[in-house]
Amino acid sequence: MGLQYYLIRGFFTLLAAVIVTIAFALRTLKSALAKSGLVMLAQGPNEETMLGVIIQRYGGSEVLEYRNDVLNPSLDELANTDQVLVKIEATSVNPIDWKIRSGELKWLLPNTFPKILGRDLSGTVVAVGSKTHLLKVGDQVFGMPEKLKGTYCEYVRCCERSLTRKPHNLDHLNAATLPLAALTAYHGLVSVGKIKPGMKVLILGGSGGVGSFGVQIAKAYNSTVFTTCGTHNIQFVKNLGADQVIDYSKQKAAKELKNQELDLIFDTVGSKEDRDQCYELVKRGGKVITTLPINAKDNPHSLFTLIKGFADLALKNLYYYPTKRVPYIPILAPDYAHKQLDRIRELVEAGDVRTRIDTVFDLTDIQKAHEHSESSHVKGKIAINISPSSSTQGVVYADTIKCAIPGGIID
Ligand SMILES: NC(=O)c1ccc[n+]([C@@H]2O[C@H](COP(=O)([O-])OP(=O)(O)OC[C@H]3O[C@@H](n4cnc5c(N)ncnc54)[C@H](OP(=O)(O)O)[C@@H]3O)[C@@H](O)[C@H]2O)c1
Repeated sequence: MGLQYYLIRGFFTLLAAVIVTIAFALRTLKSALAKSGLVMLAQGPNEETMLGVIIQRYGGSEVLEYRNDVLNPSLDELANTDQVLVKIEATSVNPIDWKIRSGELKWLLPNTFPKILGRDLSGTVVAVGSKTHLLKVGDQVFGMPEKLKGTYCEYVRCCERSLTRKPHNLDHLNAATLPLAALTAYHGLVSVGKIKPGMKVLILGGSGGVGSFGVQIAKAYNSTVFTTCGTHNIQFVKNLGADQVIDYSKQKAAKELKNQELDLIFDTVGSKEDRDQCYELVKRGGKVITTLPINAKDNPHSLFTLIKGFADLALKNLYYYPTKRVPYIPILAPDYAHKQLDRIRELVEAGDVRTRIDTVFDLTDIQKAHEHSESSHVKGKIAINISPSSSTQGVVYADTIKCAIPGGIID
């Protein structure tokens, strides 16, 4: 039996493993998400309501409804739990929000409406369950409620391990831009990538939400950072600390970095073409980590494109792992991530990681915020002001206001 036999056997074993993994992941996610983001609307005048944005069907940004009759999370269900009730001051928009809204992930999510979208929050703890020990009433917190519990609203009830104290040098709007994007970057580079001083790291897409935190986290770990972005973002990513910037509209990272032996590639774009071309740059024992195993060009995402993405992943691992020991690893931002959030707070308070707000929208303008995020050309993050009374003074915008607040990035 020759090498060919072992390769074919290896391929089919891997393919079977991928199919089992996808089936298992779908089942787990489906049951985890079955109760997620679900809300009730008030049926009578005596019920306690809050402001919030709901969707009652899949579709374009027009399905986002700003309402004043969303039922408050029940306090009764807080007793004897490790959950807290948070008054949300600010949230932000992430691509997952409009990917769920459009229905392109509906094969993964049950069709239960109404639903509140939104992953991030910064706010104040207003009630705690008797089994809590990390947080208390009055704490200013930021984080990502578990199981896709929505944050485009005034109150959310979630596990205290999904949150942590807000960085003291950030206001709520800036703090709300951190959770999902910074957690994804931290998880990819530190928890999975095991980044170390002196490593050479390529971040594909350094100017977006995940990428801009990725560049800063990689620099905080004293690595050499190469990154790609469009012409208009070159100065921005240099200000974040990138050592070499490749303009994706004019250059190819694979060509510009061909003499570099990379330890890590952190892909935040999902361009199969760019990722494939850069694979050869990774040295033996390195890693290729992606936030989007589906090819971004296969739009909208579907079960078929996911399977195609995972098949590509299996083939890459089959091809590169035996010779170069370079695994290709897709990641998901972790739930209950208070320890990673603590570390992110430390990095922010030390001035190693700064937030960068592209635009602030009021919750009433959530449709415009989604449309802006769907352009896929956001520089840093979009922040959403939940309380109409919250001030946006001191917030750092993309190319307009130039004012100094501790923690904010100005370019
Ligand atoms: N797996 C997870 O748990 C997880 C978590 C978070 C995000 N994600 C996924 O990761 C992706 C990125 O998320 P995000 O929040 O960072 O999105 P984002 O903020 O919307 O990213 C936009 C940025 O991407 C840049 N960009 C677009 N095409 C590019 C290219 N070909 N090369 C380099 N840069 C490019 C844009 O720069 P220009 O304006 O210069 O084009 C823009 O600054 C999304 O698909 C998201 O769904 C996954």
